[in-house]
Amino acid sequence: MHLTRAEELILGGEKGPAQQRAMELLAALGDLYGADGLIPITRAHVSGVSYKTIREGGLRWLKDLAREGAVVSVPSTLNPCGRDPELWEEMGVDLHFHERQSEILRAYAKMGLEMLCTCTPFLIGRSPDFGDHVASAESANCIFLNSGIGARTNREGGPSALAAAIIGKTANYGLHLDENRKAQVLVEVKLDKERKHPDFPVIGTIIGEAVETKVPYIRGVRPSDDDLKNFGAAMAAWGSLSLFHVDGVTPEAQDQDLAGLERLTITDRDVEERRRRLSSAALEEVDLIAFGCPHLSVEELIDMATFLEGRERIRPGVDLWLSTSKVVSQSLRKEVQVIERFGHVLVDTCQVVTPVENKHKVTGLNSAKAAFYMPKEGFGSQRVYYGSTEELLSWVSRPKAG
Ligand code: F3S
Repeated sequence: MHLTRAEELILGGEKGPAQQRAMELLAALGDLYGADGLIPITRAHVSGVSYKTIREGGLRWLKDLAREGAVVSVPSTLNPCGRDPELWEEMGVDLHFHERQSEILRAYAKMGLEMLCTCTPFLIGRSPDFGDHVASAESANCIFLNSGIGARTNREGGPSALAAAIIGKTANYGLHLDENRKAQVLVEVKLDKERKHPDFPVIGTIIGEAVETKVPYIRGVRPSDDDLKNFGAAMAAWGSLSLFHVDGVTPEAQDQDLAGLERLTITDRDVEERRRRLSSAALEEVDLIAFGCPHLSVEELIDMATFLEGRERIRPGVDLWLSTSKVVSQSLRKEVQVIERFGHVLVDTCQVVTPVENKHKVTGLNSAKAAFYMPKEGFGSQRVYYGSTEELLSWVSRPKAG
């Protein structure tokens, strides 16, 4: 990969060891993927925040970087960490984990990252514009930025996103290039028109698994912004794609040439069958119901509070968690109060990156991304029940008598 004179000097250590290490990583990635050079980015989003996922090795690496003077040079946000700052004990997190988590956050703070730990920074005003080049880790954020906004990012790992944030540039390959943003598979979703609302997460699992890394062009659905968020997260988890187009909805859909594309058709039957396969436990077995993967939007949280208003709590042995960003939670104090009669609104964390297994064995969820990760070894080894928001909230509440 070609480097400018200034970039060569950074690589040679002229700007200190932290910048040198960051440049080494970007140069290695650029060489690996055949990039022609580095391009400036407007933002970065960094994952590798939870102590559960990075452990001692990751913590040491971050502390070393911070000690060497690493500082981000573009606005940079962080993914969820392993615990809510106030409610960690109720979550089943132990003191050792909590303290290590705090050390990780201090290292990131020292490097100048914004201390809002959320996988949906685009919901709280930390969003690039159409056509911006960014470096985003976190597959759910990455796919939304590419697809819902039309910004350009590869699916970065935590270290490469942090390196890009420090240098303010990323290697020019993959989804930064026009030719890699073209639709490759035409997906026709053919559902019964009477159906109230398509189950976007489930449809996302089918598409993700089928197309893997290809770019799908999807016809037959009209997702809202929240649907796009949940749809994309499912596709990215069950496949490895980071961009999709939806006919008449996403910003780059109109530029696509559909002639001669490979085709995939999805029917109600496919959706029903896949929905059944997502669950490995029965609803009666759940000891935790967890929403907010990806983090909940203002509208989703209001809808849940509205549903719960006028109801009463049942099944005290089943915990209820709703994960969102601090910004969303603090903007909805009234709704949060309603929800707290039933469970917890958690900030800065989520059910996947916390040590959920300390306290829970079977999780009820409405997220196909969480249904992919939570049963995995290292991510909680949970058994899961996949259901709709209404079904799961109805399991822990009922209309007040009279
Ligand atoms: Fe976000 Fe955690 Fe899900 S980081 S996308 S809520 S796994």
